[in-house]
Amino acid sequence: PVIHRKDYAPFPWLLPATHLEFALGVEHTRVVSTLQIERNPAAAASAHILLNGDGLTAVSVRVDGQETSDWEMEGDNLRLNLSGDAHEISITTEIEPSANTQLMGLYASNGMLCTQCEAEGFRRITFFPDRPDVLSTYTVKMTGPKADFPVLLSNGNKAAEGDNGDGTHWAEWHDPWPKPSYLFALVAGDLVANTDSFTTVSGREVDLAIYVRAQNDGGDLDRTGHAMRSLVKSMKWDEEVFGREYDLDVFNIVAVSDFNMGAMENKGLNVFNTKYVLADPETATDGDFDGVEGVIAHEYFHNWSGNRITCQDWFQLSLKEGFTVLRDQLFSQDMQGEAVKRIEDVRILRSVQFPEDSGPLAHPIRPDSFREISNFYTATVYNKGAEVIRMMRTMCGPEAFRKGTDLYFDRHDGEAATCEDFITAMEDGAGLDLTQFRLWYSQAGTPKVAVDLTHAGDTATLTLRQTVPATADQPGKKPMPIPLKIAMFDRVSGQHSGEQLIVLKTDEQSFNFEGFAEKPILSINRGFSAPVTIERDIADEDLVFLAARDDDPFARYEAMQDLVVGHLTAASGNGLDDSARGTGRLAIAQAFEAVLSDDMLDDSMRGELMMLPGLTFLMEQQLVADPSRIHEEREGLKAWLGARFEDTLVTLHQRVSAVPYDQEATSRGARKVKTQALVYLAAGNSERASQIAAAQYHAADNMTDRQGALMVLTGLGTAARTDTLIDFHRRYAGNELVVDKWFALQASSLHPNAIEHVKALAQHKDFTIRNPNRVRSLYMAFAGNPHAFHAVDGEGYRLIADLILELDPINPQTAARFVSPLGRWRRIEPGRADLMRAELERIKAAENLSRDTFEQVTRSLG
Ligand code: ARG
Ligand code: ZN
Repeated sequence: PVIHRKDYAPFPWLLPATHLEFALGVEHTRVVSTLQIERNPAAAASAHILLNGDGLTAVSVRVDGQETSDWEMEGDNLRLNLSGDAHEISITTEIEPSANTQLMGLYASNGMLCTQCEAEGFRRITFFPDRPDVLSTYTVKMTGPKADFPVLLSNGNKAAEGDNGDGTHWAEWHDPWPKPSYLFALVAGDLVANTDSFTTVSGREVDLAIYVRAQNDGGDLDRTGHAMRSLVKSMKWDEEVFGREYDLDVFNIVAVSDFNMGAMENKGLNVFNTKYVLADPETATDGDFDGVEGVIAHEYFHNWSGNRITCQDWFQLSLKEGFTVLRDQLFSQDMQGEAVKRIEDVRILRSVQFPEDSGPLAHPIRPDSFREISNFYTATVYNKGAEVIRMMRTMCGPEAFRKGTDLYFDRHDGEAATCEDFITAMEDGAGLDLTQFRLWYSQAGTPKVAVDLTHAGDTATLTLRQTVPATADQPGKKPMPIPLKIAMFDRVSGQHSGEQLIVLKTDEQSFNFEGFAEKPILSINRGFSAPVTIERDIADEDLVFLAARDDDPFARYEAMQDLVVGHLTAASGNGLDDSARGTGRLAIAQAFEAVLSDDMLDDSMRGELMMLPGLTFLMEQQLVADPSRIHEEREGLKAWLGARFEDTLVTLHQRVSAVPYDQEATSRGARKVKTQALVYLAAGNSERASQIAAAQYHAADNMTDRQGALMVLTGLGTAARTDTLIDFHRRYAGNELVVDKWFALQASSLHPNAIEHVKALAQHKDFTIRNPNRVRSLYMAFAGNPHAFHAVDGEGYRLIADLILELDPINPQTAARFVSPLGRWRRIEPGRADLMRAELERIKAAENLSRDTFEQVTRSLG
């Protein structure tokens, strides 16, 4: 069944208190839940209560202490008839954590027990109104064998504990903050912790702990330092920047190897994928360090944007996710520097969210309907959601924005709120008029802004025209307010007289700028002030100017990208003759040279400017793309630049190789440039690059350099490839996260036989379909490797479809994530499109398909 946003109705009952008792076992766990319920005066009265379940059977049902049979199952849910205004309901269920392969609800991971309840996992533990607007105060008692589960954790504070004298022990936890069921968590296992403490601004002493499995490859506890430092920084930052203070005496984090997503913000007990907790220089790249810092911050920030104020229903998901992503982005900008972080965030948006927005799975950041909510934890809800709130901040400025968020937190603390509540608080607190801006919440699709700049006399006229493309459910779109930061560079002085913010509100609008003897050079959408596509006719020489001279680092990056995108789309689209290709390449070379030689540029920015736009983004620029043609053009350009700048790149590689390792910006920038230099060299002169990369690999004292070198070697056919892959696997045997890298590097490699490698890796003894990280490291990497995935005979599509069919009965949530690469068929040349569609049809025809995969496949077929 399809669920619609407009059908929201409040739950007829309130649940002031919930008491849960767990008799824990990896194979069998018994759950007794006792709910205090009373009628909700704000809802229509009901003669029953509907409790959600998923695969549960009730062992016993009691009302006010009496066993009752006055209930029935309605599908998976339990409907219990009730006559009075207030009752105590008590239900016993039995569950099998070790048989839970979906990793939703209570499940076993390497002998420990843990939970994932968002969005609808709690109903796999016990019958409950499993919806985010039912808030309750939880008390949780756990009993279990001491040897298996020396550590027993749940939300809130530990209230009591004891030994039963029979080899079992127990603990009781109490969370004073009312919360919805999706924020419930329980962890039991043989764990060890890294501990610290934090004193909040008003003097509350908070005990911090990060738990990892006691039995691991031996080093995990020592790899939690970065996560702990990130947590402390997040707590401080949220006090300073958003005025948000922590509200419990403990904050626990547990790292789990088997996890569907990145991490989960359960109140006072965050559960994390190990990938976003463990980091040390030997095993984690600079990117991994950033991932840990960002996700730790994200989950911590949810304590206010998500937990203290939660969502009325799942259509409001972006209320907490979009806002929290913006908060973690702003935090990381403050920690690492604004320019590079912004470029990275935009790169993710454009490579993941833009394709989503232009494909069959497009949806507004506040969707109107769904079958399975797990399918809506998307780049649109998260990342575009963050961009939408960022635009509000851009339009009002940081101070007014803070007034708006203060009012929002103040007004809705303790509530299950809506996106509309957030918007209204922004209007009232920040002084914005968001009447038209609300369209950003209801319209899907990435707006296009066509830019035209003319010049007459001393006046430059900027004409902007916007179109919001039609999407599956929304044929006609209205114009939206689009805030664009712009600057006009005077050709004579090479300067501009200040950045301005203009807001395009109608289909078409013109703006005049006086005092230009010549037509100025326009820098537009500076800082990526709006998540739109800019279409403009601009001369290559102007882009070269901006790439070398723009004072907005993002705009400088953008000019460089534009130059390359323009060239590659022209070259792979209609085709360029050799002379036109030569002219295009020379303009790029000119900008590239400026980037390589600019002494004022820090290396971290240099590394960004050197990066070629990704294949997915390039394909996105064409209405119908031929993946092989774009790939060939892109590789051709890389090889040409690599050969042309060979000696400069070798010298650059030597310079940055001399910078010693640490986690500071200079050193990190050096490593970024090092790998980029290798990438071009490999394309230009594979033998020379192979030697340099092998040397870098063996000399490396950190994972960034080692992985960077191995990545380049894996794409080459040289002898060093096999040797280093074997060495890497041996060196890190037993370290799950590094073995994941080993799989991913081969699956995402430029090697012409990548597809054969993936097939062989699926048979490798270290591959298991049960672990989402391992599945993603092999198959997501492969699906994100366009030249391999789009093999002309359809072998790549078949591989992914086979995976979906095998994984769906085991872990539907993860299986469904693999559908979207196949869903791009409408934008791929007809031969491949037929093959892609045929695989979608084959999946759709399978029996007992999960709701998750069914929804994605039917939407993808359109
Ligand atoms: N709220 C979590 C976060 O943003 C994500 C949980 C997603 N879980 C899921 N089953 N889809 O960090
Ligand atoms: Zn989140």
